[in-house]
Amino acid sequence: MLTFLKQYRIVPVAVFRDVERVEPYLSALERGGLPLAEITFRTDCAEEAIQIASKRFTNFLIGAGTVINGRQCEKALRAGAKFIVSPGLSEEVAAVCAEAGILYLPGSATATEMMRALALGLDHLKFFPAEALGGLAMLRALGAAFPQVEFLPTGGIGISNLKEYLRRPNVFACGGSWMFEGTPEETENKVREAVALAKEEEKNESRHTR
Ligand code: 3PG
Repeated sequence: MLTFLKQYRIVPVAVFRDVERVEPYLSALERGGLPLAEITFRTDCAEEAIQIASKRFTNFLIGAGTVINGRQCEKALRAGAKFIVSPGLSEEVAAVCAEAGILYLPGSATATEMMRALALGLDHLKFFPAEALGGLAMLRALGAAFPQVEFLPTGGIGISNLKEYLRRPNVFACGGSWMFEGTPEETENKVREAVALAKEEEKNESRHTR
């Protein structure tokens, strides 16, 4: 699961208010070259959307986002979610994921939360809300104190600042909802643009590390 996220380095965050939108928007992701999505538990149909996505898009890595308690986490796993993301750290969710052997990416905004996550054995953390928390400067500062942590920044990330975030050595992937603004065709184009940018960054990186 982590390998897959680290391969693509972009996590599209979907808020489906209507399950009719699952098929056209995930097809747009597929055409754009990004077979993964985090479907958030912010709407009543989240569970059904995850179910539909997992059944129809079998080659995708489908995760659940905004999972804030153990009950929601169990629902998400039953629906087929293969990874779980929270805006903050929930020990209850961490326990359910550990039991199921599923990747858990808890949100963290402060050093104390990062220390709590590390104490639970979690070292891949969502950094949320990234821009409001100080963005790149904060990630740089956190890297000094927590060299063992790799972050998934989300919140305020879009095509204009994606490259800078992907370039930070302690960022393993970036998340965001910007790709879902507009029609499925617009989504496809935004996804293609983001995927190309991530690939370009990968090339630059291997050139630097050679
Ligand atoms: C999330 O849950 O990761 C965020 O809502 C994504 O933030 P964005 O909507 O600013 O991209």
